[in-house]
Amino acid sequence: LTGYVTLDIGYKNTGATKSAITFLDGEVGILKYRGYPIEQLAQKSSFLEVAYLLIYGELPTAEQIKNFQTQINHHTLVHEDMKKFFDGYPSNSHPMGQLTGLISSLSAFYPESLNSNQTAEEINLTIVKLLAKMTTIVSWIYKKSLGHPVIYPQNRFDYVTNFLYMTFGQRTEEVVIDPVVVEAMNVLLILHGDHEQNCSTSTVRIVGSSEANLYSSVTAGICALWGPLHGGANQAVIEMLEKIKADGGDTEKWINKAKDKNDPFRLMGFGHRVYKNFDPRAKIIKKACDDILEKLGIDDEVLSIAKQLEEVALKDPYFIERKLYPNVDFYSGIIYRALGFPTEMFTVLFALGRLPGWIAQWKEMKENKEPIGRPRQIYVGAVDRDYVDIDKR
Ligand code: SDX
Repeated sequence: LTGYVTLDIGYKNTGATKSAITFLDGEVGILKYRGYPIEQLAQKSSFLEVAYLLIYGELPTAEQIKNFQTQINHHTLVHEDMKKFFDGYPSNSHPMGQLTGLISSLSAFYPESLNSNQTAEEINLTIVKLLAKMTTIVSWIYKKSLGHPVIYPQNRFDYVTNFLYMTFGQRTEEVVIDPVVVEAMNVLLILHGDHEQNCSTSTVRIVGSSEANLYSSVTAGICALWGPLHGGANQAVIEMLEKIKADGGDTEKWINKAKDKNDPFRLMGFGHRVYKNFDPRAKIIKKACDDILEKLGIDDEVLSIAKQLEEVALKDPYFIERKLYPNVDFYSGIIYRALGFPTEMFTVLFALGRLPGWIAQWKEMKENKEPIGRPRQIYVGAVDRDYVDIDKR
């Protein structure tokens, strides 16, 4: 080995880059986007405004956000030829599998994105197209799961309302989108906006560092997010809560399973690589759960099971010693379900929220002209060996 290598499997203590986008303090439980506390943004901002903040670094003026919305409205339609292979997906295939295929194919339909020396304007157009088409594509995937026809975007709606209109709208009647649902969706998407160098964002950056185009880099991030240890946890949490409910709601039994090293079961939605205190997003979502379910008149038994689990776990020495607290995924699925989404769509919704963060981080990596990412290793394999002919093996 030339020089020396510090082994840090899982990058638990490695600073992979310098970034001005998101600040986390895991010990205290602080999350800020471009210096603004997540609590204030969740309460006062809109998802499109937070997307603008993450990508361009400043809160937009009224004029800037209006132009941004107008630009996006001009690109919400997806090339009709994309429907040809979208129709080929089995209607019960996992939405994340469809999303990776569709987002990756944007680089085939919009070849200007392939130029690795794009001007700032060309990069911005590539960004706007991705933000715009993501909502249409996600709503298509939902419609396919129902066997329903897709709904085309309406430019009279704002970003999140348009997404909900395409998702829950019907061709047979004018559907009014409940303002409670619009507000809840904005908060959920804001809370997922960015989270510094998590697994999927680091994937976007390292893929982008080879000068791969934005669509391919984000596709790689979507693939990383799918894992149940990462964004896939929001689906796994609801499946876990449903299992506990079916098993009679014995939370003590399941907490003990999670502590048993011989049992592969983990308490999904609990623990975090960085947060060794409450995930501030989980606090906001937990509060929003009661609020939204009450406003929508929904009584979801899994919410009380989730609260019981949290209460028992936070008093248990195993969780206390390991500083395991509920993370963003623990309560989010309960709200998604209340808004009408099936469990299989939850991680796609996480991707929709994380999209501006992935874009901002890819853009920052390019602007900083970062070198191609290429970690080293400690070699522990066989040393010198000579080839052995097959008849002598
Ligand atoms: C997200 O990085 C980000 O920012 C991610 C994210 C984002 O916004 O991008 O915040 C989104 O991915 C949130 C995390 C969603 N995943 C889950 O909820 C899955 C369940 N959680 C775990 O698998 C785990 O906590 C991780 C993956 C989140 C973190 O794993 P680490 O940091 O590698 O910690 P670890 O696996 O080494 O655990 C430390 C100890 C171990 O016990 P010991 O070996 O010390 O005895 O804590 C235990 C683990 O067994 N542990 C758990 C547990 N999580 C950790 N035990 C039971 N249940 C759990 N959930």
